[in-house]
Amino acid sequence: MAHRLYNFDFRPDDIVVMTYPKCGTTWMQEIIWGMTHLDELEEADRLPITYRTFFIDSDALYLLKDQMKDRYLMDRFHTLCPDGRPEQGVIMQSCSAQPPQPTKPRIIKTHFPLSLYRPDLLDKCKVVYVCRNPKDACVSYHHHCRLVNTYKFEGSFEAFAKAFMAGDVFYGKFWDHVAHAWQRRRHPNLRLVFYEDLQLDGLKQLEHLGSFLGLQLSQEQLQRVAEHASFSRMKGRDAQVPITLSSSTNGAVGGFFRKGITGDWRNVASAELDTVMEEWIREHAGSLGISFKYAL
Ligand code: A3P
Repeated sequence: MAHRLYNFDFRPDDIVVMTYPKCGTTWMQEIIWGMTHLDELEEADRLPITYRTFFIDSDALYLLKDQMKDRYLMDRFHTLCPDGRPEQGVIMQSCSAQPPQPTKPRIIKTHFPLSLYRPDLLDKCKVVYVCRNPKDACVSYHHHCRLVNTYKFEGSFEAFAKAFMAGDVFYGKFWDHVAHAWQRRRHPNLRLVFYEDLQLDGLKQLEHLGSFLGLQLSQEQLQRVAEHASFSRMKGRDAQVPITLSSSTNGAVGGFFRKGITGDWRNVASAELDTVMEEWIREHAGSLGISFKYAL
């Protein structure tokens, strides 16, 4: 799968949403989908974002037997790839077979960092990289690993935070991931967006994003997209058409759209853990020259 992914045939009009997990991937997918599907926003009430976009690492992340339980994914696969072989990657083949549509580019989600793709990825298509302060990303990731049956994490928050800092979690080290994008942030095909800035100044961020993607969107259209992708609207839709297939086994409450805020770390981390995290952040962020907002 690594080889297939590395050599995946990206198209010039593809939009890749790349993130370390829990940094605002789904929000950005919904924003970009909204910007490119203004004439059919209500489709989101029927179909979760998972099925309107392509989560291209799924084939490497999930066991085929679990993918095969997802009727919609498999229907999409069989429709798009009548002769496809599931063991060669359900999502990758579906994505490859998606017919080009002039104003509706493929939106491809990945949690793999730039380093796991061919070095010319940025010369082929546009990549939107979303990052979020690591404290809140860690809180959100802990919740996610308790919520989703694939992970079944049952340890304490402190144990999770230590694993997170050590990179002993799915998708590995936070800073390595961010560093690959941060180092290439001036590439014309890469747009780096901070989760906290989306919260602070959503419309301005959407305006920049629209220009980056080459879309001519009016203020009224941007406003519609912002509303379409607001936390409350997304959480509301999730209650009707959930994006997660598996549900909690160990008491994680709040669902996929948990709180959607900045600064929740201080509600869950002890003072000792905060000191350790601060040290870890200083060590890595300083050398990169990146800084995050931890409260708004
Ligand atoms: P919390 O767990 O802190 O609430 P990802 O999509 O990368 O997995 O990130 C999930 C995080 O983004 C969750 O954070 C989720 O609630 C938050 N999120 C999703 N949609 C959002 C939105 N429209 N506005 C703000 N936060 C959102």
